[in-house]
Amino acid sequence: MKLICATLCFVAVLSFCSGVPKNGRPDNTYYDCTGLDDGLYIGDCTHFYRCDNETTRMLPCPGNLVVNEKQMWCDYKDLVKPPCGTAPNCTGIIDGKYPDYKSRCQQFYTCLHEDFYGYTKCAANLIFNPEKDNCDWPFLVKPPCGSGNERVWPSKANNP
Ligand SMILES: *[C@@H]1O[C@H](CO)[C@@H](O)[C@H](O)[C@H]1NC(C)=O
Ligand SMILES: *[C@@H]1O[C@H](CO)[C@@H](O)[C@H](O)[C@H]1NC(C)=O
Repeated sequence: MKLICATLCFVAVLSFCSGVPKNGRPDNTYYDCTGLDDGLYIGDCTHFYRCDNETTRMLPCPGNLVVNEKQMWCDYKDLVKPPCGTAPNCTGIIDGKYPDYKSRCQQFYTCLHEDFYGYTKCAANLIFNPEKDNCDWPFLVKPPCGSGNERVWPSKANNP
């Protein structure tokens, strides 16, 4: 997967930076569809391209959206893995739920099979409690997210 991505990106950068339509077709033809099946392909982080009968069409992502190579659509940066987006890097991370500190734990994210599986919002007034693996009252959650007192609410580690 990584290798495919790296290869695609490399090819994309090469073709894009040259700025020369390889197959001599119109101006926006930065990718060579010769010999490629009809379909959608990843250009770089900001656009796809489409091959139809070996002709190329550029499909830029609107606004600030970036390429989500897993879903093959344009998506918000914070839902897309690096390098195109800023979603949490789940590589090497154990399956589970993790607090999203940027939202002050009002949401958590899920890593599954070392892949980012999106954010989940807690119900109003609740924040994620990693010790319970669920949303909880802020006064029952330890800092930095909650206001829970560690002496009153010892961590699992201290409480075998
Ligand atoms: C695909 O392109 C070739 C040559 O450019 C043309 O002869 C053929 O009719 C095209 N096929 C379709 C389905 O448009
Ligand atoms: C994601 O984390 C892994 C393991 O720590 C690391 O090897 C990899 O370079 C990271 N990827 C990115 C894009 O930060």
